[in-house]
Amino acid sequence: MTNKSVRDYIRTIVDFPHEGILFRDVTTLFADPRGFRIAIDQLLAPYAGMRFDKVAGLEARGFILGGAVAHQLSTGFVPIRKKGKLPGRTVSVSYQLEYGEAVVEVHDDAIQAGERILLVDDLLATGGTAEAGIRLIEQLGGEVVGCAFVVDLPDLGGRKKLEAMGMEVHALCA
Ligand code: PRP
Ligand code: ADE
Repeated sequence: MTNKSVRDYIRTIVDFPHEGILFRDVTTLFADPRGFRIAIDQLLAPYAGMRFDKVAGLEARGFILGGAVAHQLSTGFVPIRKKGKLPGRTVSVSYQLEYGEAVVEVHDDAIQAGERILLVDDLLATGGTAEAGIRLIEQLGGEVVGCAFVVDLPDLGGRKKLEAMGMEVHALCA
């Protein structure tokens, strides 16, 4: 039996997509059957006994994790997508990335007022993407009850940003 941790399954690619970025590549975690399973189990661990109406995942790697988490919780899944991908009527928010600017959208009927939402993504860096996702969910009247990430890069300030918004942040490794 291996005692590898989630962190051990993630590789770091230097200078991707730009010089100076240490890119945490979770595809190696997702590709490993034990790695993927323990990541999903550990993402869910703090929420045992809690009720969620939906899981929301941030494009793109948050879809892979969020789908598995939603299945485990027996909830629906809501994709928060980059601009222009969703076919129905949307609400949108723009935000800063560690390297650039982007817009995210969600269908305006994907979440009902008062629904309890677990937000899931692979990685928390500046927190701009997660903050935009939280604002979208809140615009629709949803309540973000938890924010779960595989990786937190604390030096980039995302956790502080989300905690300042009153969010509970759960991450498996730095
Ligand atoms: C990455 C990552 C998070 C976001 C974190 O996604 O998966 O969603 O960046 O950065 P932040 O905390 O500074 O906002 P990316 O924008 O690279 O999109 P992708 O998953 O579609 O490649
Ligand atoms: N998204 C933003 N910063 C990232 C990083 N360093 N590695 C992987 N995804 C990221």
